[in-house]
Amino acid sequence: MTRPITCLGIESSCDDTAAAIVRGVPGDMTVLSSVVFGQTDLHAAFGGVVPEIAARAHAERLDVSVQGALDQAGVGFGDLDSIAVTCGPGLIGGVVSGVMTAKALSAATGLPLYGVNHLAGHALTPRLSDGVAFPYLMLLVSGGHCQFLITHGPDRFERLGGTIDDAPGEAFDKVARLIGLGQPGGPAVEAAARGGDATRFAFPRPLANKPGCDMSFSGLKTAVLRARDTLVAEAGGLRQQDQADLSASFQAAVADSLAGKSRRALDQYLALSPSDPNFCVAGGVAANMHIRSLLETVSADKGCRFLAPPLALCTDNAAMIAAAGIEQMAGRTPDGMDLAARPRMPLDTRSAAMLGSGKKGAKA
Ligand code: KG4
Ligand code: ZN
Repeated sequence: MTRPITCLGIESSCDDTAAAIVRGVPGDMTVLSSVVFGQTDLHAAFGGVVPEIAARAHAERLDVSVQGALDQAGVGFGDLDSIAVTCGPGLIGGVVSGVMTAKALSAATGLPLYGVNHLAGHALTPRLSDGVAFPYLMLLVSGGHCQFLITHGPDRFERLGGTIDDAPGEAFDKVARLIGLGQPGGPAVEAAARGGDATRFAFPRPLANKPGCDMSFSGLKTAVLRARDTLVAEAGGLRQQDQADLSASFQAAVADSLAGKSRRALDQYLALSPSDPNFCVAGGVAANMHIRSLLETVSADKGCRFLAPPLALCTDNAAMIAAAGIEQMAGRTPDGMDLAARPRMPLDTRSAAMLGSGKKGAKA
């Protein structure tokens, strides 16, 4: 494909309503606009994302988001070549809102429609941000997912391992709630950890000695709960220094787990693809500077180039969906009006389903 494609992307799988315009060819794309409406305020009182509230908010904001993306890019529907929309995995009400919007726009304009896996959007982000060549090893680490993927091509992903229970972002959010910090938990815990002692609490590094690159984070969260309860029983509450030390110790445990398993995943990947030494991360947790720097060190130890896209492309956005649409459309026929919205949608359909991974299906 040589002619640049201009694609409208639509994303609504969790608690961000997003639309974006991306133009280019596979591996060489430019974000013309990217609009993201977050919903943190709507869910704040409930301690987590409420699916029904999320779906209603998406339905209300999708048309504004699309118009905003067109206006910011300075284009109209007549300038577009295609529409790409997240069709799973995610909270089904939100995914349906996006898919229905995209179908309506496709029917009204005649533009071809492409359903995109949200996880493929994350996994292909280094193609948008850095034009990295295939294959590369991707650590996708977010609020709902955590997996190592060899990204062979726009629609070919091989999972080497992943979490068997919670995703790290989910653990950051739960720990923040447990120790009285705000949401989203990742940035709050990272900020608190800056003044903390990471050695005060010896939290576990689950599955560290188990071969392979599967991970587990739910026991770690329980360990933080026990430490908190002990402190509360002893002193009647948590001091600011306790919050900081709990945050730093927890963050160190997550970072060590991810770094340890990244070593294994890189060994496996490099044995298969020694001439493509690229290690990429994506997802909201990749914003954590301590985690990022440990992963960078592991990557350098293994002689790999480390790519971490800018934060706006790591967290949920529609530019990655439009870019995945451009990447995939050469090898696909457009979807029809029967395109289904799916709550679960594994990327690597050949590998066995993980025990608990993605159970929540809420975020990716
Ligand atoms: O990729 P994302 O926006 O949404 C999906 O999960 O798809 O990631 C959001 C997650 C949240 O759980 C949030 O707490 C976490 O990423 N996160 C962080 C940081 N910033 C966001 N976790 C650790 N450190 C951070 N700085
Ligand atoms: Zn996501």
